[in-house]
Amino acid sequence: MKILETKDLQKIYGKGETEIRALDGVSFSVEKGEFVAIVGTSGSGKSTLLHMIGGLDVPSSGKVTVDGQELSHMNDEELTIFRRRNIGFVFQQYNLVHMLNVWENIVLPVRLDGRKPQKKYIHSIIRILGLEEKMESLPSALSGGQQQRVAIARALAAKPAILLADEPTGNLDSKTSQDVMGLLKMTGRQFHQTIVMITHNEEIAQTADRILRIEDGRLRSSGEVRAW
Ligand SMILES: Nc1ncnc2c1ncn2[C@@H]1O[C@H](COP(=O)(O)OP(=O)(O)O)[C@@H](O)[C@H]1O
Ligand SMILES: [Mg+2]
Repeated sequence: MKILETKDLQKIYGKGETEIRALDGVSFSVEKGEFVAIVGTSGSGKSTLLHMIGGLDVPSSGKVTVDGQELSHMNDEELTIFRRRNIGFVFQQYNLVHMLNVWENIVLPVRLDGRKPQKKYIHSIIRILGLEEKMESLPSALSGGQQQRVAIARALAAKPAILLADEPTGNLDSKTSQDVMGLLKMTGRQFHQTIVMITHNEEIAQTADRILRIEDGRLRSSGEVRAW
């Protein structure tokens, strides 16, 4: 089952001489439960693509469909609600709320949506991510790797249709990066979670089931499926 589909996505910044085609006709799809990495050098259009998929910005043309719903058909308010319920984000900066402890951070998006956190499910995520001992801690008392694990737990807590990660290990050393990637992958598997991850790091990309390559706003390869 296709959970994500883009058709001929274009994003043009600026006009005339200063025009930049950040995305120039990007079409691909992702099956439910897949873990896809999108790789490209700096400036190739990765973050722009992620913003379009996640409904954080609108394309100049083309369309994005998430879980059967076309994002361009929604107004701002509908899109905000759709994002909260269906898309989990993990960024390079962990974006945790400093005044809230780990548990409060993890359940915040679910609470903002007026729902009750599913405690059993969230505790199982916390266990896999090795955060049991840290529930009462404030983010400032955690290492970078631990903070990113909290951000992953927060992204998964709402059971999103897709989890989008933009350079999730960009601020971590290579050992911690491998650990965090291993955990991201393990939670993805366990909960049949679809993950689309952006990275410029080839080694990190190799963790994924499939790799898409982007260059100057175009997909160069629509995915080498990795054998297990
Ligand atoms: N808001 C913006 N306004 C103008 N140009 C932008 C904007 N965001 C990105 N770009 C340009 O679009 C291209 C792709 O950027 P980006 O998607 O951030 O690349 P990546 O994440 O792969 O490094 C770059 O040339 C960048 O300078
Ligand atoms: Mg980027």
